[in-house]
Amino acid sequence: MARIFISRPRLPGAGVDLLASRFQVAQWRDDAVPGADDLRNLVRGCDGALLLGNDRVDAALLDAAGDGLRVIALASAGFDAVDQEAARARKVVVTHTPGVLAESTADIAFSLMLMARRRLGAAVDELRAGGWRSFQMDGYLGLDVHGATLGLIGYGQIARAVARRAAGFGMPVQHYSRTRRSDMFSRPVGLEELLRTSDIVSLHVPLTPETTGLIGARELALMKPTATLVNTARGAVVDESALLAALRTGALHSAGLDVMNGEPRCEPTDPLFAEPNLVVLPHVGSATERTRAAMVELAARNLLAVLGGEPAPTPLPG
Ligand code: DGY
Repeated sequence: MARIFISRPRLPGAGVDLLASRFQVAQWRDDAVPGADDLRNLVRGCDGALLLGNDRVDAALLDAAGDGLRVIALASAGFDAVDQEAARARKVVVTHTPGVLAESTADIAFSLMLMARRRLGAAVDELRAGGWRSFQMDGYLGLDVHGATLGLIGYGQIARAVARRAAGFGMPVQHYSRTRRSDMFSRPVGLEELLRTSDIVSLHVPLTPETTGLIGARELALMKPTATLVNTARGAVVDESALLAALRTGALHSAGLDVMNGEPRCEPTDPLFAEPNLVVLPHVGSATERTRAAMVELAARNLLAVLGGEPAPTPLPG
């Protein structure tokens, strides 16, 4: 019987039961995330592993698993923690879970637009702290989301789900992507034009060497001082110090982040958490019961397929 390792204790949905019915399953039982040493020890002798997007898959892990390892199934769309070259060299198939989380993540991108532009995070904080004294015509004034021009950087499944929502808000939508694909919801433009003319810029690119630091001081300076930046992709796509500087000097109206560099971050003194025009969420883009269950089930189906000698439903692209 093939052996599978699962790197988290509680995974929503039927995926784990499906695997347990077919394979010998070893599962990490601690709430603390397993470190690199733990992962190396636990994958030893396994034929497959179900990991999360923040579990590093490198040559050391693949070698520790041994020659029997055939497949690593990520319950994650992002695969920036995978050394694809190392996996290819060892003939290990790596899969991910695109698509199933697009709508939920688009909901969070839209939530961040609304929270940041309408200053809802700051308003809730003040209310909870007993600071709301009276209705004032100039109280908690923000900027409209409906009718605002939306610029999407990247135009994959999540960005397209955001563009569909924007139609209902009467928002003109433009996007910048490698493919320059066009559809009824959005038109392709160059990056500079997008940054200069959008009221909201929302990031939907994978983290790669090309997209690391894609939005830095120069790009933020091109944006309107009334603009909002939203990031539901990966923290390292944005230069956080440049973002904080732009917010503090009023060069940018607001920002909403679901992702940060060096997650998880929980120091209350973190400058990201103190900035009034910045809303930060703890990486909850895909966090609905249905979507997380779908991610685990798709990861399980990838494992079953590869270990059954079939092609993986959703291998990494390329
Ligand atoms: C993803 O799937 O990439 C999300 O960010 C959760 O890891």
